[in-house]
Amino acid sequence: MRLTEIAHGVHQLSVNVENILFEGLWEMPKGVSINSYVVKGDEVALIDGVCGWDGVPESLFELLDQLNVPIKSIKYVVLNHLEPDHAGFLDAFKQIHSDFEVICTAKGAELLTAFYDAHLKVRIVKDDDMLNLGGGKVLSFKEIPHVHWPDAMVSFESQTGVLFSCDAFGSFGIMEKSAFDDDYTDAEIEAYEKETIRYYSNIIGAFSPFVPKAVNQINRLAVRMIAPGHGLIWRKRKDKIVADYLDYACYQKGIARPEITLLWGSMYNNTGAAVQVAIETLEASGITYHVHQVPETPWGELLTSVWTSSALILAMPTYEYKMFPPMAAALEEIGKKKAHGRKVFRMGSYGWSGGAQKELDEIHDRLRLNWSFLPPHEFKGKPLETDFEIIRERVLELIESLKSENSKK
Ligand SMILES: Cc1cc2nc3c(=O)[nH]c(=O)nc-3n(C[C@H](O)[C@H](O)[C@H](O)COP(=O)(O)O)c2cc1C
Ligand SMILES: [Fe+2]
Ligand SMILES: [Fe+2]
Repeated sequence: MRLTEIAHGVHQLSVNVENILFEGLWEMPKGVSINSYVVKGDEVALIDGVCGWDGVPESLFELLDQLNVPIKSIKYVVLNHLEPDHAGFLDAFKQIHSDFEVICTAKGAELLTAFYDAHLKVRIVKDDDMLNLGGGKVLSFKEIPHVHWPDAMVSFESQTGVLFSCDAFGSFGIMEKSAFDDDYTDAEIEAYEKETIRYYSNIIGAFSPFVPKAVNQINRLAVRMIAPGHGLIWRKRKDKIVADYLDYACYQKGIARPEITLLWGSMYNNTGAAVQVAIETLEASGITYHVHQVPETPWGELLTSVWTSSALILAMPTYEYKMFPPMAAALEEIGKKKAHGRKVFRMGSYGWSGGAQKELDEIHDRLRLNWSFLPPHEFKGKPLETDFEIIRERVLELIESLKSENSKK
């Protein structure tokens, strides 16, 4: 829990959440902060709240208390996005306070009725509508649909230049020292980027085509700091986080980094032995690579690596005439996030019929992944030195194709 005055009369109320699966699905090894904001003009607005998980709205109320903002003095509740991680506090909030107005988009109003309460007082806003709080504080709004839900918008306070961006430009990862990016060294921010990419690939990634549209909207505002609903406030590196988000959006189409992700699964280590040879080849080449075993690795971790990788190595055996099931499940998830355009080499062991490759082709075509494949390599039973030789060649070919593509940029 942390309270920070981020600009004159603008306060961040941040609550940390750990040991839960985000959206009931995504592991967060470093947790997440959920940020709420208070803007004090003559009237008080609360911008986004926190989730309704047990004990979390109470932390928000405690922070409001520390800030000397009686809940009953809040005139406006601005909901940039109705997902319960930001709006879930409403149920507890409206038990305490009844005389406030919710500010949201038209789509947000529809979701407000569906998820919370049809009887709340609502003011629907659209692009450039204004809310004058008095005392020089004026909020305006821009819709950024599908970053992350269809109702999403950003709010902008013109006197201080603070952009309240909700899910856009957010990150996983709790950063205890300070709310601001400029209080961290470049090395610390570089390490934190993994949590930004984890958040982006797990939560926003599927909606990547909408990110450049959102950035166009935001570029029309004189932003001095970006205050998201999750993670650090971007002040010194505000242009960088916007550029990074545009890059992450491009990565969806496979125009990613010169990195390789090796995903593998094996029952009796026949495929596993071939994986060792691939890893040695990757290691010797100096390329950046990530290795994840299925089903041991959570999907969110796989996706974080796949998102920045232009190439994949998939290694799995045949199982009951199909692909080793946890690999098929991982590929389905990668496909649903639409990680398209990767260069891929697939290998694996079979016993009598094969079938893993057929299922890979089926998943690829059905999910329209637009991956380009090197010739796959399958071996019967345990791999021999001749198999290792082919695997080394293919992995080197994959590495070379990334290096030459990168040198063209
Ligand atoms: C439960 C089970 C199901 C299998 N189903 C098939 C199959 O349908 N077709 C086939 O060619 N091999 C099948 N195999 C054989 C494996 O593909 C073979 O043992 C392979 O070497 C396993 O590779 P791994 O050691 O990397 O797990 C099966 C093996 C097991 C244990
Ligand atoms: Fe969201
Ligand atoms: Fe969120």
